Amino acid sequence: MTEVRISAAPNIALIKYWGKRHKALNLPLTSSFSVTLSQMRSWATVREASGKADEWNLMGDPSKAQRVVEAARQTTGDRRPLYVSIENNFPSGAGLASSASSMAALTRALSRFLADDTVPMNQLTTWSRLGSGSSVRSLFPGYVHWEAGTDPEGKDCIAETRFEAMHLPLALVACVVDDQPKPIGSTAAMERSRDTSPLYEEFHTKNTSMMKIALDAVTRRDFIALGEVSEANCLLMHEVMQTSGPPINYFKPGTHAAIDHTRKLRAEGIPCFFTIDAGPNVKIFCPPEYQESVRRACENIPGVKRLLLDRIATQLDPVEAA
Ligand code: PMV
Repeated sequence: MTEVRISAAPNIALIKYWGKRHKALNLPLTSSFSVTLSQMRSWATVREASGKADEWNLMGDPSKAQRVVEAARQTTGDRRPLYVSIENNFPSGAGLASSASSMAALTRALSRFLADDTVPMNQLTTWSRLGSGSSVRSLFPGYVHWEAGTDPEGKDCIAETRFEAMHLPLALVACVVDDQPKPIGSTAAMERSRDTSPLYEEFHTKNTSMMKIALDAVTRRDFIALGEVSEANCLLMHEVMQTSGPPINYFKPGTHAAIDHTRKLRAEGIPCFFTIDAGPNVKIFCPPEYQESVRRACENIPGVKRLLLDRIATQLDPVEAA
């Protein structure tokens, strides 16, 4: 095999991860729950470098990818210099989970290139997690649960598909308010929240009960209950951010307008809910049969530059090897 090129999709958390129990190992304080998307994708290409040093062809800082490659080298013992390229078909670093899809794609490409896919899944989870915590959820399709675990080395910090996408199909209309990289990265922001927000502990206590409600809602295919708990969890996370010192405010005027718009659509009878990550963009979920109505209704929200459409992945793409 001379080259591997493989993709992964971002995942959007419905019950969020906002705090670490171990910084260097990137272990989360509480479990999280997400859906893995399908059309938005990051593509990772891995081959042997032509010279003696690694070659990086990435958007921005290669440090996350370097940590994943180093973890892969430690597991496999293969220390050949590598050429690594990652491209996204959507904006990077703007709260659309591009680091999750990038690190998951890189992990899968390294697993195939260095070890012919013989590395166990819990080891791949570790490689990916060292690049970006939330990326472990992008290694699985459908509704994904990432268990925080308690093991100091993270042996029980694993992710898995809890429900297939078709169990409760969801479509996404993402309102892109700003596609520029965010002002403060999530690791630094989480640390600031831990050190200064009076709501940090409450968020983590409530996360456990909110998780139960979310899992129960999906089990019962209850879109309304899933939407309620997802919005409440997202808003609580943003309150933690905004009560940090100095406040972390990812919202822009277009963010508020898209939130108001989602509530208005719901009041008009269109089932939909929003969630927002470490950035200003608003992701609106709805049943697939309502995606076109939501898209049309969101066309002229002030401050929203464009819309991206997606749905939950039923399966991950197969590996492409040359
Ligand atoms: O994995 P990171 O460091 O990109 O952090 C992700 C944090 C949120 O997107 C805000 C929440 C989440 O669970 O995805």
